[in-house]
Amino acid sequence: MNPNRKPIVAGNWKMNNTVAEALTLVTEIKRQAAEGKGVEIVLCPPFTALQAVSNAISGTAIGLGAQNMHWEKSGAFTGEVSATMLRELYCHYVIIGHSERRTLFGETDEAVNRKIKTALASNLHPIVCVGETLQQRQANQTEAIIRAQVLNGLKDIAADQFANIIMAYEPVWAIGTGMTATPGQAQDVHRFIRGLLQELADEKIAQTVRIQYGGSIKPANAKELFHQSDIDGGLIGGAALDAVAFMAIVNAAL
Ligand code: PGA
Repeated sequence: MNPNRKPIVAGNWKMNNTVAEALTLVTEIKRQAAEGKGVEIVLCPPFTALQAVSNAISGTAIGLGAQNMHWEKSGAFTGEVSATMLRELYCHYVIIGHSERRTLFGETDEAVNRKIKTALASNLHPIVCVGETLQQRQANQTEAIIRAQVLNGLKDIAADQFANIIMAYEPVWAIGTGMTATPGQAQDVHRFIRGLLQELADEKIAQTVRIQYGGSIKPANAKELFHQSDIDGGLIGGAALDAVAFMAIVNAAL
């Protein structure tokens, strides 16, 4: 954690929670969230619960995020949702390139790049996910994979837009597996990502970008991870479905 960057903790609910369940969870999170306490909190419900959660958090400091979107403004894209539609619901963040989208739905770096551009042009903060598989880590390919994902994902994006982007390092082998990167392993990759941002922009800009860690964050391991100098918060999956666990992780970022 670096005091010059405000920590950001986001809950990625994935394909969980009906509207009723979402409202129960958000009510509990709201009750426990001390407003303006120095951590930016973002909730990313499934599309169907965005409106309800948006209403429920209106007037609070909690932000709303979507889990995906299409890069086009509108048109014949069955099953897709546009940036304008998200903005209409007071959504200010969108997760782009989550590893589940990449592996299960064939999302490429090129698609990620298009989505980031559209998100930025629509005043949405993209939460850009990158990460290596276990096989890639064991083959010493972590840096090469991260390098390609970051450079291709951020291709042709103006450096003055970088402060609006949130990066998320999510080692694929740590997502939903209970296996977490050690704080040292995570910090090494976070520092590497910041170095890539510096290559694309400059040091000053690279220092403004927040980089979240994601992958089996729990209340028990959050503090040590957030203590690392280039880790600026977390993207939380499983533990974000429980208000007590989620808020304990938020508090670990204080
Ligand atoms: P997890 O998921 O916390 O359940 O590992 C993180 C994510 O996929 O964003």
